[in-house]
Amino acid sequence: MPAEITLDQLSLDPHQIWHRLRAEGPVVWVDAVNGWVIVDRATAVAAMRDDVTFTVDDPRFSTGQVVGPSMLSTDGAAHDHHRAPFADAFTTSALEDTITWCGEAASRLVASIADDGEAELRTAIGAPLAVSTIVRTLGLSGVDDAEVLGWYRAIVAEVEAIIYGGLDKEKSLAANEALVAAVRRTIEANPAGFLAGAAEHLTTTEVASNVAVIMFGAIETSEAATANALWHLLTHTDQLAMVLENPTLTPAAVEESLRLEPAASAVDRYATTDTELAGVAIAKGDFVQVSLAAANRDLSAFAEPDAYRIDRPNNRLSTTFAYGPHACLGIHLARAETIAAVTAVLRDLVDLRLDHGRSKGPQGLVFRKAAAVTATWRVD
Ligand code: HEM
Repeated sequence: MPAEITLDQLSLDPHQIWHRLRAEGPVVWVDAVNGWVIVDRATAVAAMRDDVTFTVDDPRFSTGQVVGPSMLSTDGAAHDHHRAPFADAFTTSALEDTITWCGEAASRLVASIADDGEAELRTAIGAPLAVSTIVRTLGLSGVDDAEVLGWYRAIVAEVEAIIYGGLDKEKSLAANEALVAAVRRTIEANPAGFLAGAAEHLTTTEVASNVAVIMFGAIETSEAATANALWHLLTHTDQLAMVLENPTLTPAAVEESLRLEPAASAVDRYATTDTELAGVAIAKGDFVQVSLAAANRDLSAFAEPDAYRIDRPNNRLSTTFAYGPHACLGIHLARAETIAAVTAVLRDLVDLRLDHGRSKGPQGLVFRKAAAVTATWRVD
């Protein structure tokens, strides 16, 4: 691994680096991440499906240290124990009302900025829609969006503190206690609700850990998905024109954006045994990062992989929502929410244009999102 590659470079623009490393092989050692990185699609999918050899259940896994055991930090029977009680609530049929609500919520958010003629769309639309959607879906009793956002920020800060140092234990303990209390209140107040259903199989603490993981999985990623889709459309005006002409292309435009910049650009695994992956010897305990961003631009799977093409026939083969036992629980919600946001923006803001000087594209080491999507539109 060439020493000149740094985490800063990977955060700013990893794609050309992954292309270069993919030429060396599907699995490469990267000093900067202190582990192996999988950069082709087939090997990425195989590793994510093999939770016996490549596990999430390792004491180094930062989210597990913060929220305790949950579906995200366990494998095998323990994983089934944590995930199964929540699975039914996130199917397309169970989400029907939520999806309708998402469309209405997105329209209300757009209406609230329509007279301004300009806005930064990630913070005006993507972020508030992400928080209110998950608060509504979880149905937490006596809790508002701001409080949930506070817990979410405390969890993120603690995860970052484990990685980079500077932990404020008191703050995160308070957030954890408030979350457990809200979960307990919700179970008591709504015995027919889905958290009470989960509590028939899990302890209150286990329900709270999984609720934290659901919030953790939902908020940043959904905000990023909306910001990135609007960024890609506004920077590819030929593709934007096609969607404006035919709004039924919106889901395809969103899917292609999810492929090009997966909001969670990598997932982390640990080798449980000495093994071989795509001809590379991996030792027990080695850190193995599956780069979803790299897999999604693998030339052997996607023609012209760096191009944003909404007519791409196979963008649903992207690895953006992962594969295997940890495949995203919220995949249908995430897609529906992003489509709702993009639909409302394109439908209700006329003559929409990107203000290039006040906008900045996707960046970030793990969570990649457009930093600013500042747009202007006509106000009659
Ligand atoms: C565009 C938005 C989203 C993206 C790109 C995304 C991506 C992912 C990825 C890559 C994983 C796999 C993690 C791993 O293998 O270690 C995952 C898992 C997960 N996601 Fe999402 N996600 C999104 C939205 C959501 C939403 C809205 C929810 C709300 C329910 C959610 C809940 C979860 C949960 C609970 C897991 C853990 C599943 C398990 O470990 O069994 N995600 N997501």
